[in-house]
Amino acid sequence: MERNAQEAGQGKKGKFIAFEGIDGSGKSTQIKRLAERLKKENIDFYMTMEPTDAPIGAMIRQILKGQMKADPRVIAALFAADRLDHLLNDANGIASKVETGTTVITDRYYFSSYAYHSVDMPMEWVIQANEQSAGILRPTVTVFIDVEPDTAMERIIRNREQQELFEKKSRLVEVRKKYFEAFDRLKDVEKIVIVDGNGSPEKTQEAVWKEIRDCLAAK
Ligand code: ADP
Ligand code: TYD
Repeated sequence: MERNAQEAGQGKKGKFIAFEGIDGSGKSTQIKRLAERLKKENIDFYMTMEPTDAPIGAMIRQILKGQMKADPRVIAALFAADRLDHLLNDANGIASKVETGTTVITDRYYFSSYAYHSVDMPMEWVIQANEQSAGILRPTVTVFIDVEPDTAMERIIRNREQQELFEKKSRLVEVRKKYFEAFDRLKDVEKIVIVDGNGSPEKTQEAVWKEIRDCLAAK
């Protein structure tokens, strides 16, 4: 299948890098370290995340915090809408940033939807609900920080309030499985790299940097 224009070798476009991982994978830690490294190397970039801090993203965060109730299908649709707004809004839409040469790094993109929502509904539905986003902007590379659910759970317990442990653990297992199912399903159209995140932050950081350096150096 044809890759997006960004990868078709038109040098002026920016790279678009998406980070993915289960909760507790150390994704936020790695993104922070990457930002510091890029600054040190004098490489310009725009850092962003999903859910966004725009109105649809704010509504999603209310739901995630339990302040608002919504059906899983509604939540999946809100994430898809938040993503389109993330891409297209006039103020800081990332599609035009990439188009005009900015390197954009996002903490989560559509693979989060494929993995998290396909626990409750068919993955095909979730992929279709995000078809517009995939058509507008496919990541140059998706970096998946892979951590064993037990390790992720230990990190979460060590650092956050201990609650709903069993439920949480089985969910981490399921979401990780769904990530791999999505990667396999889309391997012909997406560039995905899997970085081992089970070791120290430093070790993971080195592995992430190697991937990012290669991605930025590629045409
Ligand atoms: P995520 O964004 O994937 O949920 P975080 O980066 O917030 O994960 O990491 C979860 C917790 O685990 C944080 O308290 C962080 O300090 C810690 N942590 C992150 N990476 C590692 C690592 N490689 N080894 C041990 N602890 C880590
Ligand atoms: P957040 O607090 O940002 O978590 P993290 O630091 O782990 O990224 O919350 C985001 C949560 O939303 C996380 O549990 C994954 C979930 N999510 C979805 O369910 N669908 C999506 O499309 C996205 C982007 C995130």
